[in-house]
Amino acid sequence: MSEPFVAILMGSENDLPVMQAGADVLKQLGINYEIKVTSAHRTPTATQQYIGDAVERGCQVFICGAGLAAHLAGATAAHTTKPVIGVPIDAGPLQGLDSLLSTVQMPGGIPVATVAIGKAGAKNAGYLAAQILSLSDSELAERVRAERAANAEKVQAQDQALQDSL
Ligand code: RP5
Repeated sequence: MSEPFVAILMGSENDLPVMQAGADVLKQLGINYEIKVTSAHRTPTATQQYIGDAVERGCQVFICGAGLAAHLAGATAAHTTKPVIGVPIDAGPLQGLDSLLSTVQMPGGIPVATVAIGKAGAKNAGYLAAQILSLSDSELAERVRAERAANAEKVQAQDQALQDSL
């Protein structure tokens, strides 16, 4: 089997500006990933084939972003026991609430770890995938810890700048 990797799937190219935030986190942490447009509704057979092929090639975690009646994460979870993280996307008049509910309300036995709507969710999907992979990769675990410490320092620096400006 080749190197472990994360697969980022999205239902439309229009989801890319959101899902890129997750890809950026994986890249920053040195995690291999693939990123692909594939749809639970528009290309159901190709989606199913990709999931099976990706698992055979070493995919360890799936991150799936979709908007409207968002079934990509759920459909992916139906075809694999690898962890699936769902990113609801604001793609229509209901501002992502439709996608949030259709991603998070999975029936028992087929879990989707659903994160927040939009870019914050995509970013957290990247971190969550990293934390899952770091369970069996101590060097990655150290990079995740360092990244969190760096983020804490940024917040402290923001507060220091605010205090200095008063
Ligand atoms: C979903 O429908 C996609 O994930 C996208 O968020 C939404 C709208 O798709 P487009 O019509 O913009 O391609 O399947």
